[in-house]
Amino acid sequence: MKLSSYEEMLARVDDPLRERIAAELPELGEIRDAELKAGCIEAWAVAIANSSYGSIADIPPAGNPEKMIQKSGDQTDHIRGVTRLSIVIADEMASSAPDLPIDRDILVAGGICHDVGKPWEFDPENRRRWKGDRARHGLPSLRHPTYGAHICLIVGLPEEVAHIAAGHSGEGELMIRSLENTIVHMADIGYWQIMLAGGMIQDGTISDKYKRPLSL
Ligand SMILES: [Fe+2]
Repeated sequence: MKLSSYEEMLARVDDPLRERIAAELPELGEIRDAELKAGCIEAWAVAIANSSYGSIADIPPAGNPEKMIQKSGDQTDHIRGVTRLSIVIADEMASSAPDLPIDRDILVAGGICHDVGKPWEFDPENRRRWKGDRARHGLPSLRHPTYGAHICLIVGLPEEVAHIAAGHSGEGELMIRSLENTIVHMADIGYWQIMLAGGMIQDGTISDKYKRPLSL
């Protein structure tokens, strides 16, 4: 699906979709601020409504299109797993270092929304369009962190959450990540490294950055 105006993107969302998203992500219940929680639901609903997918579970269980594809499960397993890992890391770190200024609500919202750009980057229609004319569009035109930050901003989520979507992956190497973004980033790469170590990633789909030993 091609990009359209903010108004058109927001207007494609309806209540059944919001309810589907809320049911797919029980970790939303960890967010205390009602407006922030509603913003996370809206972000995923707008991302899904403007894609070929009908729900988060329809998105392949992968880190990138055609890369780091899990042998089983779906994309909700990753989103929920990274969110819960982020919470555990934050709570354990805070128990030994109580002065760590972790904003738990921002952390949970960031975990839930870190990959909200995937419906765009993974969309088969987009992939066909980009591959059909790489010289014009790029491949992809926008990676999921960039598009995810766009989604966060148009639904009115705080810049701290948009920052996590924008910088949880490689793009974050060009910035200084916030404390909450650092935790989500570690949970995200930890998720993929542990899945790989445990033989849960399909052969032939391993991203170079996770291959070991590094070639010297
Ligand atoms: Fe992720």
